[in-house]
Amino acid sequence: MKRTIILTGLIIAIASVSSFAQTVVKKSTKTTVVKKTTVASAKKVSAVDIEEGKQLLAKNDCLSCHKVDVKVVGPAYNDVAKKYPATEANYDALTKKVIAGGSGVWGTVPMSPHPALNPADIKKMVEYILSLK
Ligand code: HEC
Repeated sequence: MKRTIILTGLIIAIASVSSFAQTVVKKSTKTTVVKKTTVASAKKVSAVDIEEGKQLLAKNDCLSCHKVDVKVVGPAYNDVAKKYPATEANYDALTKKVIAGGSGVWGTVPMSPHPALNPADIKKMVEYILSLK
């Protein structure tokens, strides 16, 4: 009788240890997956925003002074993309610059200001420009 109780106890103990171990394994797998997703979404700018940015550029006056691969009045967008990494800070800084206009970074010729444009739209255009590399 005693033996059976001890044996049963042992089996329960082994079973719970092994299921605990499984839970730990499952948990750690989950954590890894979550981390990966977070890193990926922090870096990624949506492809939809980039495509919209490209179309917005074409609808506005941007292409009368800029081309993707050659300098016209303003710098080539390829060169802008090379100069600035695609970071949130650069999206914001360049959005402000497009709104305010101005000169001094690429030469003495100023960019015209764009106060009437929606900043969210300008940001998409900047996201498109900085994706060109
Ligand atoms: C009248 C001509 C003109 C138009 C129109 C124009 N740009 Fe520019 N852009 C320039 C010039 C010139 C520069 C360089 C300014 C400088 O040296 O600081 C420039 C610079 C830029 C830069 C880089 C800014 C920096 O500080 O490095 C971005 C990004 C940009 N333009 C985007 C746009 C977008 C988006 C539009 C349309 C909404 C636009 N530009 C319309 C002339 C223009």
